[in-house]
Amino acid sequence: PRQADGGQTIVMVGLMGAGKTTIGRILAARLGLPFVDSDEEIERAAGCSIADLFQKYGEPEFRRGERLVIRRLLSGPPVVLATGGGAFMDPRTRASVRAHAVSIWLRCPLPLLVQRVAERTHRPLLNNTSPHAVLADLMRIRHPVYAEADIIVDCGDDNVEHSADHVLQALK
Ligand code: S3P
Repeated sequence: PRQADGGQTIVMVGLMGAGKTTIGRILAARLGLPFVDSDEEIERAAGCSIADLFQKYGEPEFRRGERLVIRRLLSGPPVVLATGGGAFMDPRTRASVRAHAVSIWLRCPLPLLVQRVAERTHRPLLNNTSPHAVLADLMRIRHPVYAEADIIVDCGDDNVEHSADHVLQALK
């Protein structure tokens, strides 16, 4: 893996509820880098919420916007970038991330993910379904791909400060 010496963008990868945004913000503060969330950037660019984007235009259109937003961010100055859980699954996005950033997979056990997403209702992939079943499926499909990230950090203990410390150590 490449070194993050303050000059490199850091991309947070992992499932919904893994802590990409929370831990990404902590890392950004500790590294003195701006924090950016790709979902928020997509919402800003589209002028509507992710849920509306899915509902009105469908997931493929959301994925297209996601790919463009991430490509734009990767070509700019260094940031800590939290991506949506599906972003790294796109082969083109994965290739740009691998070429232009250090990727960090926050690997989380299923019960912790389920517990964390239960507090939120804004995720279209979890609407009208059992979050446990959906996340278990996504885990099977996505974990082998997330494993291509440069750095893997296990976040089993639900302590985001602790997880951020692990990431910082791995970046040294
Ligand atoms: C998605 C995760 C969400 C958001 C969208 C789709 C996914 O982001 O991008 O709802 O495919 O896993 P978070 O991982 O930040 O919840």
